[in-house]
Amino acid sequence: MKVLFSGIQPTGYLHIGNFFGAIRNWVKIQYDYKTFISVVDYHAITIPYNAKKMPDNIIDMVISLFACGIDLEKTILFVQSEVPGHAELTWIFNSITPLGELQRMTQFKDKSQQHKQNICVGLLDYPVLQAADILLYKGELVPVGEDQVQHIEFTREVARHFNRRFGDTFPECKALLTKTPRIMGLDGEAKMSKSKNNFIGILEKEQDIWSKVSVAKTDPARIKKTDPGNPNICNIYSYHKLVTHEEERDEVVEGCTTAGIGCLDCKKILLKNLMNVLNPIREKYENLKKNKHSIREILTNNAEKCRRIAKQTILETKEKMGINPVWKI
Ligand code: TRP
Ligand code: SF4
Repeated sequence: MKVLFSGIQPTGYLHIGNFFGAIRNWVKIQYDYKTFISVVDYHAITIPYNAKKMPDNIIDMVISLFACGIDLEKTILFVQSEVPGHAELTWIFNSITPLGELQRMTQFKDKSQQHKQNICVGLLDYPVLQAADILLYKGELVPVGEDQVQHIEFTREVARHFNRRFGDTFPECKALLTKTPRIMGLDGEAKMSKSKNNFIGILEKEQDIWSKVSVAKTDPARIKKTDPGNPNICNIYSYHKLVTHEEERDEVVEGCTTAGIGCLDCKKILLKNLMNVLNPIREKYENLKKNKHSIREILTNNAEKCRRIAKQTILETKEKMGINPVWKI
């Protein structure tokens, strides 16, 4: 079985953009590969963050991922900092990575713009840590969003570079892009994100979601209920595509274009279908949350499994680089 690796930052909050854009895909494909998912706390500390909140954010992300359908029997879900090999391999890769390549990374440029006063070396080194994440397990497939493609290409570059210089060791991984187009926020203007406050959280209650959805923008041509609309330019309809079955969606299109239904009716259909997806996730989340000890146990076991694999990779890497004299004595 091929090795699949992906990582997610412990933002403490998942929204439907994360769920439909990435996590639902992980859930679907986890059975076809040897799957590793890491909650990447070492990545999260490269920008200013709240140390008091971080532990809860990490555990919450783990529980949310299980609630979304990551299978605790199948997928090795673990916390990055519990496996020291990630940092170790990062250091090794640091020594074969040209500085200029990191300075050119789009995400580094964006984030250093956002945190001008606070640019740390870790932020520049972020892609090297990401490459170490993947290559520590000899990951071959990496399901990520469009914005991470550059980092996956960089990872391939690191593997190629290492293999050329020290001998064949690491596979050249591939990004596995989700078919879902990027999910826009409720404002219809930017990608859904926590920081833009334009999101629907996966754990939000029906009333709270309705208070956001009911006022969200639709096709501006529909000023009165009798004005026909165009679903293709309506953000609400883009959400229908995520949760509404084809038949009912056809009814929505028909109703919208002939002014047969109003936007509020249309949003109510959306809410019903969205809650059919989100209610079971919230229930599972609440149940898991009552059982934190077993979550801790799973994480401890998984970190142990990862450390065993990591140890092998690090040994092999060091040996090839000539920095493992143990072999010579
Ligand atoms: N940088 C990724 C993001 O922000 C998260 C990440 C860290 C990752 N390590 C990874 C993704 C390894 C894929 C593989 O989304
Ligand atoms: Fe959008 Fe639905 Fe209103 Fe049409 S009826 S404009 S699809 S919200």
